[in-house]
Amino acid sequence: MKPNNRTERTRPSRVLPASRLDRLPPYLFAELERKVAEKKAAGVDVISLGIGDPDTPTPAPVVEALAAAAGDPGTHQYPSNRGRPELREAFARFYERRFGVELDPDGEIVPALGAKECVFNINLAFLDPDSIALAADPGYPVYTGGPLLAGAEAVLMPLEPERGFAPDLDAIGGDVARRARLLYLNYPNNPTGAVVPDGLFERAVEFAREHDVLIVHDASYTETTYDGYVAPSFLSTPGAKDVGVEVFSLSKGWNMTGWRTAAIAGNAEAVEAYWRLKTNIDSGIFEAVQLAAAAALDAGPPPEMPEIYARRRDLVCDALQEIGVEVTPPKGTIYVWAPVPEGHTSASYCEMVLEESAVVISPGSAYGPNGEGFFRISLTIDDARLGEAVERLRDSLS
Ligand SMILES: Cc1ncc(COP(=O)(O)O)c(C=O)c1O
Repeated sequence: MKPNNRTERTRPSRVLPASRLDRLPPYLFAELERKVAEKKAAGVDVISLGIGDPDTPTPAPVVEALAAAAGDPGTHQYPSNRGRPELREAFARFYERRFGVELDPDGEIVPALGAKECVFNINLAFLDPDSIALAADPGYPVYTGGPLLAGAEAVLMPLEPERGFAPDLDAIGGDVARRARLLYLNYPNNPTGAVVPDGLFERAVEFAREHDVLIVHDASYTETTYDGYVAPSFLSTPGAKDVGVEVFSLSKGWNMTGWRTAAIAGNAEAVEAYWRLKTNIDSGIFEAVQLAAAAALDAGPPPEMPEIYARRRDLVCDALQEIGVEVTPPKGTIYVWAPVPEGHTSASYCEMVLEESAVVISPGSAYGPNGEGFFRISLTIDDARLGEAVERLRDSLS
């Protein structure tokens, strides 16, 4: 007799992923990752300057707040699906103190499982199949992948160095403007390191009014700035709350990427639509993490980080300038964005750097077609390893 937990296969099983996955662009890091794996397997000491994941620990008081909250069984069940009032109120206090923006913690803020979840789900909440999201090129890949997975379209807005990496909103008209429902902005900007050019937020509010578009400002890097530059919130722009939302994350500013803590804030109807969608998708952030995130917001970002990143930025920019790469030191983010030398594409330069110096840098083309001709270096690696990477770049490329 056959054991009854086995079925006889009459034909091989067929796994049929949904066609929406075919709409996603090819994964541009694949070849680079294969080469890195090959080198590591051969015993080469590869240094990665690829990923923007802070190496410095989360501030100790935040970890202690988590430990205390996790000891309370009251935090162990399904989270309240609007987020704990303590966290929403802490976001409101932070916005008031840091940006001078008043937010109603009951109607204008909902916590999110990181900016990535929030941005992705905004696409599902606001895009119909014939509609468009306007996304910066180069830009964070979820601004383009999200609309495609939502069955809609992403139309790219080139960010050119000559315009301070601002999209030219006056160039968007006709059918594209008519079908556009979302417009993504992100300053300080990944990957270019640009800070918001004067007048862009104001122009975005006008554009939103002209075309009934929701502005989504990704504020993931407002707390990682240098040289005394203080990044504004989009929500402090007159009229912004009428037409937009901001996605604010603790990941980069507080060294909390693993904690998955962010929020959507701003226009109450938009926040409500996001929340309605989200109640069908996930069950929120572990409540002990929410309470620790509230403590983090009240304490503010760790004050030593700007100096740490500024020092690393200068180390990298000086070395690049020495080997003949023209680079402008950024005032924000945790990245250096620089042009590849003549005769190279983004991919060929990054491959050569890996071959010659066993250092991983990101090809600009991974962030959109307009990123071609650039590369990105992340500053999230300790000073000693970064120093070693910089020495290797100097030795092998000069
Ligand atoms: C522009 C931008 N938005 C969002 C994210 C994701 O942030 P989170 O960790 O909050 O999901 C990143 C991460 O690199 C990013 O660069």
